[in-house]
Amino acid sequence: MDVSERRLILVVGKGGVGRSTVAASIAGNLAARGKKVLLFETNANDRFGSYFDKPPVGESVTQLAQNLWAVNATPASALAEYGLMILKFKSVYEMVFENRVTRAFLRAIPGLDDYALLGKAWFHTQEEKRGRPVWDTVVFDMPASGHSISMLKIPWVIVDTVPEGPLTRDARTVKALLCDPKRTATVLVTLAEDMPVNEAMELETKLSALGIVPQHIVCNQLYPNHFPPGAPVTKVLDTLASAGPLPSPLAEVTQHATLSRDRRTLNERYLAELRKRAKAPVHELPIIFIPALTAAHIKILGDDLARG
Ligand SMILES: Nc1ncnc2c1ncn2[C@@H]1O[C@H](COP(=O)(O)OP(=O)(O)O)[C@@H](O)[C@H]1O
Ligand SMILES: [Mg+2]
Repeated sequence: MDVSERRLILVVGKGGVGRSTVAASIAGNLAARGKKVLLFETNANDRFGSYFDKPPVGESVTQLAQNLWAVNATPASALAEYGLMILKFKSVYEMVFENRVTRAFLRAIPGLDDYALLGKAWFHTQEEKRGRPVWDTVVFDMPASGHSISMLKIPWVIVDTVPEGPLTRDARTVKALLCDPKRTATVLVTLAEDMPVNEAMELETKLSALGIVPQHIVCNQLYPNHFPPGAPVTKVLDTLASAGPLPSPLAEVTQHATLSRDRRTLNERYLAELRKRAKAPVHELPIIFIPALTAAHIKILGDDLARG
């Protein structure tokens, strides 16, 4: 997939399918190719630090590799920044945002936390230093499906319900950015399994209805095709699997090989279903059999995605 010319890359999907891993792989690959990249996550139990052999990423922007920075934004930090952005002057900001009454009032607005986080991601896409953009690309590791939909919907809600002012002006700009496929790419991550495929298709429909049409689908953690039908190795496995009780360790090895083949068969079935139902092209990403992924694995996955 080629997402190199985008200002913003949204990585979405069901919880646990590998959004953070795909976000890190895309970001690492773009940075290695010379783009200045910000990897943006929210309220996360950070994984990016370990993916680039660095300590966990916190609320301030920190460097993970050459050309690659990351930030783990929290609603409080994002809200403070966003408040500063619209109100410009710190004294005005403190009067409005640090005031006890206003603060309680702001807390009560549904979606304000999420809007501040989305607003901060947008702010980084616009951030300039000496008239030049600070970031070529912001890669946003979004919250899980339902939560990311409600977060992305907020600019629409603001434009429709809030009286004209700085808030609606920004919301309109954010909407325009999200819906512009030349500036924003949405990458939907899923697994080749029953529930994840259904949820991915639901997410594709809902995002498309907003005008945020996913451009790529990544089918992650695919089992290797080690036992294709008719191959000699498959015949050996079939013979072993149908033989009577096997001695150890042949029994365990056969059991695991059978499990792996069954997973691959299942993967292929749901991959075919995904390809049939999805509007966006589907990219395959292998499962890496390792307890904890490191920088070397993130590079392999990033290269794989860039080639696909
Ligand atoms: N292709 C892969 N191969 C091996 N492990 C993976 C792969 N993709 C993700 N993982 C692992 O699966 C777990 C969940 O992935 P993560 O990216 O944190 O998911 P999410 O951000 O969607 O919750 C993590 O431990 C991650 O390292
Ligand atoms: Mg994650």
